[in-house]
Amino acid sequence: MAVEISPSILSADFAHLAQECDRVAGAADWLHVDVMDNHFVPNLTLGLPIVESLLASVSTPIDCHLMIEDPDRWAPAYAEAGAGSVTFHAEAAGAPIRLARTIRAAGARVGLGLKPATPVEPYADLLAEIDMLLVMTVEPGFGGQAFLDVVLPKIRRARALIAAADVEVALQVDGGVSLETIERCAAAGADVFVAGSAVYRAEDPAHMVGQLRQLAESAGN
Ligand code: DX5
Ligand code: ZN
Repeated sequence: MAVEISPSILSADFAHLAQECDRVAGAADWLHVDVMDNHFVPNLTLGLPIVESLLASVSTPIDCHLMIEDPDRWAPAYAEAGAGSVTFHAEAAGAPIRLARTIRAAGARVGLGLKPATPVEPYADLLAEIDMLLVMTVEPGFGGQAFLDVVLPKIRRARALIAAADVEVALQVDGGVSLETIERCAAAGADVFVAGSAVYRAEDPAHMVGQLRQLAESAGN
C-alpha cells in the first residue's frame, strides 16, 4: 500500500507559514490546507490569496480541504491556481459530479469529503468521478480534537466500495490522526493521512511525519 502523509498547517504558526511548510519539506507528500468559511464550519481560516502565496513559495504539493458553503462556486479557482488536490464536501456541493469534473479538468486531484455522520453508500456511484475520498474522523472545524473511533467501520466500508468499483481512489482520513490512532485507520483501509497537531506540536515535525508513515505502512493491508 502506498501511504501518503499530509500535514495540516492548521496547527502551524500562521505568522510564519512558508517556514512552517519548509519544516516538513522532503518528508511530507502533501501540505494539507484547511479552508474554512465560518458558515460550513464554525471557524474561519484562510482563502485563495494565501493559498496562491503558498503555491508560489513552497515546493510540496498542496492538498486543499475546502470546508465552505457553495464549493460549486469557489472550488474550481483553487484547482486553477495550481493546488495539486482539491477536496470539497458532499454535504455542501449542489452538483458534485459537475464540480468534480471541473476540478479534474483544471488538472487537480479531486476529493469528496464526508463529515463523520454522513454515510458513504449514497456516494458509491460517484467514485469513478473522484480521485480521493476523505472520511473525516472528527467534526470538521478545529484541530486538536479527539479521534472518533465510531468512524472506523465507515472507513472499512469505503475501502470495500472502492475495491468493488475497481477504481483508483485514495482514502484519506483527517482529524485526530496521531501515533496512537494512525494504525487503526490504516488497518481499516485508509492510505492518505492528514495530521495537524500531531505533526506541528512535535519537536521535529519532519521526524514525526516519518514515524507516522512507518506505522501506517506496517499496519496497512
Ligand atoms: C479539521 C481539519 C483538520 C485539522 C486536523 O476540521 O480538517 O485538517 O487540521 O487537525 P488534527 O490532526 O489536530 O486533528
Ligand atoms: Zn482538513
